[in-house]
This record gives sequence, structure tokens and C-alpha cells, in this order.
Amino acid sequence: MNVLLTGGMGYIGSHTAVALLQAGHRVVLYDNLCNSDAGVLGCIGQIVGKAPLFIQADVRDTQTLSDALTRHEIDAVAHFAGLKAVGESAQKPLAYYANNVEGTVSLLEAMTRAGVCSLAFSGSATVYGEPRYLPLDEAHPLSATNPYGRTKLHIEEMLRDLSVSDPCWRIVCLRYFNPAGAHESGLIGESPSGIPNNLLPYVARVAAGELPSLSVFGDDYPTPDGTGVRDYIHVMDLAEGHVAALDWLGGHPGCHAINLGTGQGYSVLEMVEAFAKASERAIPYQIAPRRAGDVAACYADPGKALRELGWQARRGLADMCASAWNFQRRSRETGFR
Ligand code: NAD
Ligand code: UFG
Repeated sequence: MNVLLTGGMGYIGSHTAVALLQAGHRVVLYDNLCNSDAGVLGCIGQIVGKAPLFIQADVRDTQTLSDALTRHEIDAVAHFAGLKAVGESAQKPLAYYANNVEGTVSLLEAMTRAGVCSLAFSGSATVYGEPRYLPLDEAHPLSATNPYGRTKLHIEEMLRDLSVSDPCWRIVCLRYFNPAGAHESGLIGESPSGIPNNLLPYVARVAAGELPSLSVFGDDYPTPDGTGVRDYIHVMDLAEGHVAALDWLGGHPGCHAINLGTGQGYSVLEMVEAFAKASERAIPYQIAPRRAGDVAACYADPGKALRELGWQARRGLADMCASAWNFQRRSRETGFR
């Protein structure tokens, strides 16, 4: 299959490119590099033996996108491109609607022009809002608590409308839980610019001595140790989930939602302990107030992915922490983030 990956130079896109290439597919990466580094291309090349094709452009450039789809005889698109920082989305909502919602409209227009109907969309468990029950299955009611979440929700609704309007569409919204870890080579991984918002990149920098200590946001949640519980999923498992979903889409018209999670929740303190073990470093932390908008616990019912895609996560917490630490050390050595 020829697959175009919008946002393919980013964290999840680059790992998915590796998984697709290793499964024998051809890929074209399409990214404006607003949150990634051109050096990622060479790293993917080092892992798989040959750098993939890369087009530096914005998804809102419909003509360039539709030309790329036609010229490279694309069969399916994996759509990662977008902005993803929850806090920033409250400060700059228009940037989020423009990038995420307008960007997706442009992509769908380009796909229509080029006659490409298969799409895997980077959804998020954030569309479940405050959990009414756990584990979260795909039938759980949807809601959003911030502009980022609302863009994900609007896009899902738009995709459902589109699939009703024309039966040619084959769309899957992959609702990711908490992606973590890195490729085992340590060449690609998660490298947020500035101070990380997410737990694991923050902990990695504390372990490396680049940040003094972690603030644990709340220890009075109704969870076993009082800290927030999340479903962390290894980014290579997530990448392989995309390979399975794109294969599956061929025989499944319509618009589908599928969770990509492990079903297992870990608390912040369990994550700190696991990372300290993997890195053999102390992780100083202090308890801080709850972070606005956080839920106590969020984890997936991953049953539909297994039933439909034949996919389930295979890698555990120790592997997520060890690979994140390996990436942290390598990126320090090479100076590349
Ligand atoms: P990332 O920022 O590392 O990757 C996104 C990539 O898209 C970047 O390389 C960026 O340069 C590119 N991009 C952004 N806007 C673009 C545009 N208009 N045109 C072209 N390229 C553009 O993020 P990620 O963690 O790899 O996330 C990928 C997708 O998964 C996003 O849609 C995100 O919302 C979603 N998601 C991520 C998480 C997470 O925790 N990482 C969780 C749930 C969902
Ligand atoms: N946490 C801390 N200290 C930190 C950072 C995080 O204690 O410095 C805690 C949070 O309170 C939470 C847990 O660690 O309990 C995980 O927090 P993250 O920020 O890593 O992840 P979230 O679950 O808050 O959010 C992530 C993505 C969102 C996405 C959501 C649901 O960042 O984009 O998962 O998919 F919407």
C-alpha cells in the first residue's frame, strides 16, 4: 500500500512510518515542520535502511496535497498533522481550529479531488470527557472540556457526516490513550520544545538532571495512591495499531471509532517508580495542587481493536520507560531533539 502520512515527521507519525515501512508499505511524509525537525527523516532512514519521501508543506495547502496524493498514487492517508497542547489551545483557540479543523477539511477536499477514500485519523481519548464509567469503550458518550478536545470532536463528527454523504469513504478514528516511549534505537522519540506538558517527557528530563523535580498534580484523587491514573501505551504498539487499521480499512466502508490503549492504568507515582528503575536515577518530586481539567482516571476498553483489527498492545511499562530514557540519553549525546 502507498500511504501518505500528514504530520509524519512528528512523534507518532515518525514511529508509524517505521512500522509501515517495516511491514512492506511505501510511505510519503507530508509535514510543515511546525513541531518537528527535518533530521527525523535521516533517523527513519537509519532505522529502516532508506529515508522515505518527504514533502514540506502545510495540510491547508489543498492543491499541493492533492497533487502529492495523485503523483505518488496514494491508497490511504494517516492524518497526524495538528496542534496538540491542551493548555495552549485555551490561549490560542483559533490557531487550533485553523490547524486541526480547517487542516482536516483541506485534506478531505484534496482526497476527494484525488479519489483517495481511506483515512486513519489521529483521534484522542480526550473526546470521552469526564469518564462516566471505566474502562472507556467506544460507546461512551462524547464531550470536550477544552478547545483542543473540541477540535478532535468536531473532526470526528465531520468525518461521520462525510461517510454518510458518500459510501466510498473508509474512515477510522483511532482514539489514542497516552502515547509514551520511543523506538528501541533511541533515534526517534518524543521531543517537545520548551518545558514538557506531558508526564513522561517531563520525568525523563528530571532523570537527566535538566529539570530539578516533578510536580505531581494532586494526590487526593479517588485512586489507589491518590494520584492520577492513565492508560500509557508504547508508541511502537500505537504505530503497529495504525498498520493493522489501514489493512483492515480496505474491507470496511463507513466511519468507525476504535480505541488504541492497553486497558491497564498506572498512577503518576507508579510511573515515577518505573522510570527511576529504568534510568537508575532518582526522580525528585513534590505534591502540587491538581491541574485544572484533569480527570482522576482514564483507561481504555481495548476489546474492539482486538476483535476488529486483531491488534493489541504487546509492550509493557518497563519497555516504555527504558526506551524513553534511551531516547533522552541519545538525543543529549547527538544534540538532536
Ligand atoms: P507532534 O506534534 O509530534 O506531530 C504532529 C506533526 O504535525 C508535527 O510534525 C507538525 O510539524 C505537523 N503539523 C502540525 N500542523 C501541521 C500543518 N498544518 N500542516 C502540516 N503539518 C503539520 O504530535 P504527535 O504527538 O505525534 O501527535 C500526532 C497526532 O496525534 C495529533 O493529531 C495529536 O492531536 C494526536 N494525539 C496525540 C496524543 C499525544 O499524547 N501525543 C494523544 C492523543 C492524540
Ligand atoms: N502529571 C503530573 N505532573 C506533570 C505532568 C502530568 O502529575 O508535570 C500527571 C497529570 O496530572 C495526569 C498524568 O500525569 O494525571 C498524565 O498527564 P499528561 O499530561 O501526560 O496526559 P493527559 O492524560 O493529561 O493528556 C494526554 C494528552 C492529551 C489527550 C489526553 C487524552 O496530552 O492531548 O491524554 O488522550 F487529550
